[in-house]
Amino acid sequence: MKSPLFLKVLFLSPALLALPVSAQTATNATTQTAATGPGVRYRITQAEVTGGTFTLRQLRRLGLEMFTRPFTKEEGHGDGPVDPNDPVTPGGRPTTNGTWLRVNGLDAQTCQECHAFVSMATIPPTLGIAGVGGINASAFAGVSQIDIEDLDGDTIANVNGRLINPPFLFGAGGVEMVGKEMTIELQARKAVAQANPGMVVPLIAKGISFGSISYDAVTGTFDTSNVEGIEPDLVVRPFGRKGEFISVRDFDIGALQFHLGMQAAELVGSGVDADGDGVADEVLVGELSVMHIFGTNLEHPVQVKRRNPAVRRGKNVFRTIGCADCHTPMFETTSPFLPLAYPEDATDPTANVYTTTDLINGPAGFQRGPNGGALVNMFSDLKRHDMGPALAETTGSALDPFFITPRLWGIGDTAPYLHDGRALTLDEAIQMHGGEGQAAATAFGNLSTADHDALLIFLDSLRTPRGAAADISTPIRQAI
Ligand code: HEC
Ligand code: HEC
Repeated sequence: MKSPLFLKVLFLSPALLALPVSAQTATNATTQTAATGPGVRYRITQAEVTGGTFTLRQLRRLGLEMFTRPFTKEEGHGDGPVDPNDPVTPGGRPTTNGTWLRVNGLDAQTCQECHAFVSMATIPPTLGIAGVGGINASAFAGVSQIDIEDLDGDTIANVNGRLINPPFLFGAGGVEMVGKEMTIELQARKAVAQANPGMVVPLIAKGISFGSISYDAVTGTFDTSNVEGIEPDLVVRPFGRKGEFISVRDFDIGALQFHLGMQAAELVGSGVDADGDGVADEVLVGELSVMHIFGTNLEHPVQVKRRNPAVRRGKNVFRTIGCADCHTPMFETTSPFLPLAYPEDATDPTANVYTTTDLINGPAGFQRGPNGGALVNMFSDLKRHDMGPALAETTGSALDPFFITPRLWGIGDTAPYLHDGRALTLDEAIQMHGGEGQAAATAFGNLSTADHDALLIFLDSLRTPRGAAADISTPIRQAI
């Protein structure tokens, strides 16, 4: 028999109230007790995601609940026993107190606590779901040592991994679509190269050059030495500051494991307790699908004051001094329907599609372009660039100085800037461009005061969406 408490919470939960009756009575709604944290966790399965009984709003709401839910140990939060052979990789990490590590992950109970600010440009800051994080939300990825005593006397508290500041997820559906369509084009170019041995085939996708490729029929291998800005597999990976993840789902799997110690069934196997913490199926396939649906339906950032003369002048300066060479202002997608797949196939985004996100008529609300696709005004070429030694990370990898061009939409609201948040203003962020960005930074430094100010006013006109996920954000009341 269900306890009265369970019934009370079920009644108070707007998400569950909105679910079909069959789902409300299903046994996969975990019983709520004071010990299991706020809100009932409805364990949605992939069959239910694709079954058609849930509305898009309900699926987004369930995804939002996964994103904002403080997970508990009963649900699998945390790693298992320390792995003496590999205490650094998620699964067997040590903790400071049985629960947290903070440096190298196990740094949160919920995704939302790091993705919490919609605007840092208002006083007080505007809070909201799936936004950016301040510096105390930065992740120390792969860090096992910090020289906080400055033992080598170089005035830097050196870290042997990455310090990265959280970006927002707004507009992620459009970003993912541009990346997937680029991948499809690049894979087609690869097929052309294979069909024409010896021919140097330019790798151009949506107007962006990713270098070139050729095929040697004798050895049966591709020459990928001239591939630029992406891996030799010709897959565009828009997510993560290094450009390492193909989709929101792909990123979320790693985030769940790194930050929360929650291992997705699709990562470790269904029914498998890979971290040995006594809980299997910590995140179901269906739960990741609703997280993907939630993430790709988030509203996109906006531009305000488009017709303001300084904004227009600044936009022009942005183009003429070379900012737009990397921060490509706009793409139009070929299709307005983003395919969501399980399992995902990096080189073939059309495989295993179980649903699509409508980028124009859905909550993401992108404008329709002249060719019927979604206009994604993100200001990035989705390529990695070498930003020089001053910005380079210190992991010892050849990729250390490389970062994917960050999207500048929303930039007026999202201080601090750069991958580790070292720039507190836009002015500083631009001045710190080195390597491939050095020429643009120098040109920026040589601008007249009027052009300089206009450029910053233009960047400040790029704002985050105010009401992201507002329609599904009604809080569930605390159990007790
Ligand atoms: C401790 C802070 C922290 C927590 C908790 C956190 N994130 Fe993040 N998030 C980050 C950082 C830092 C990045 C940038 C990572 C990178 O560059 O590889 C990021 C990036 C992302 C991105 C990619 C955004 C982009 O534009 O590239 C997604 C998606 C995301 N997080 C989802 C999640 C989800 C889902 C959770 C919960 C499971 C989560 N995050 C929890 C800090 C956090
Ligand atoms: C060679 C490609 C390239 C050019 C040219 C370039 N950028 Fe960037 N930009 C980047 C990359 C890559 C980063 C991320 C560096 C990091 O995080 O350390 C970045 C970061 C930024 C940021 C901070 C974004 C954030 O979210 O933290 C701003 C603002 C910016 N660029 C504006 C400009 C402006 C304005 C110009 C022209 C003066 C310009 N960029 C030219 C590649 C470029």
